[in-house]
Amino acid sequence: MDTIKRIGVLTSGGDAPGMNAAIRAVTRTAIHHGMEVYGIKRGYQGMIEGDIVKLDSLAVSGILQKGGTILKTARCAEFRTPEGRKKAYDQLKKFNINGVIVIGGDGSFTGATLMSREYDIPFIGIPGTIDNDLYGTEYTIGYDTALNTIVSAVDKIRDTASSLNRVFFVEVMGKEAGFVALHSGIACGAEGILIPEVKGQLDKLRVYLVQRSKEFKSSIILVAEGEDEGRAIDIAARFQKEFPDFDIRTTILGHIQRGGSPSAVDRVNASRLGVAAVEALLDDQQSIMVGIMQNEIVHVPINKTVKLHKDIDRDLMKIVDMLQ
Ligand code: F6P
Repeated sequence: MDTIKRIGVLTSGGDAPGMNAAIRAVTRTAIHHGMEVYGIKRGYQGMIEGDIVKLDSLAVSGILQKGGTILKTARCAEFRTPEGRKKAYDQLKKFNINGVIVIGGDGSFTGATLMSREYDIPFIGIPGTIDNDLYGTEYTIGYDTALNTIVSAVDKIRDTASSLNRVFFVEVMGKEAGFVALHSGIACGAEGILIPEVKGQLDKLRVYLVQRSKEFKSSIILVAEGEDEGRAIDIAARFQKEFPDFDIRTTILGHIQRGGSPSAVDRVNASRLGVAAVEALLDDQQSIMVGIMQNEIVHVPINKTVKLHKDIDRDLMKIVDMLQ
């Protein structure tokens, strides 16, 4: 393995608040260690097309507090093919890039795994997704900001829900996982939380909502977008049919969950992970993700992060029940 002198950094998949803080940390740490840094635009798409620009310390100035990603991002179908990855490799060679840092989620890490199996360039992953669904890390960049965005939106919904004794089904993101719904639900004091990891919650919810409506109380139910019983709008329609006296509304929070200035937690952790990713490259690590477990930086083989399943903390569901 050649000494790493020039690295590439990219963001891929769904953007997440804090990605810019990670780009800044990667760039400045690499420069600190005497390396050159190139920003690869639009994720793997830019790698294939050679849309690659030099980053210096000034290029990442004033971005720490900004949501989105200055490098832009993409979900790239061509990179899933061996031909696409060959084109990407040729571009990396052309730019003399001999180490890549990928900030993204499971789709991005699947690409990184394939690339580092096929070619002799180390790929280091930094977990960046609001979903927090990656195995091997308790934390992903953007998750904390998304939770805070949801909490502030639901607090507002609660004002109107309680004024009119309404039942609100609020759908949040998270892909197939319920981390976002579970944690934001606890933070909002939601009356119900529907997540794909916990089955058969509707009967319990029916009984609880009937009791609350008798007491003239409003309710907020957080629904994960991947919930097995259906989307929030469908569940709400079923409940409205069963309970015509309920005054039911649905809110889909949508992409506001992905935007906004990153929280302090996201800024600090993204900075730590950016530094750790460059240090992993310097340490000759190959195809790993840097993550955070029990507030310590860890290295996890990148293929494991996509192959293995991360479960929710089941004890949190007991808390939900107890605090209702
Ligand atoms: O993975 C992040 C995420 O925001 C998921 O929570 C959501 O399912 C998905 O991306 C939405 O993707 P898009 O922005 O492409 O609609």
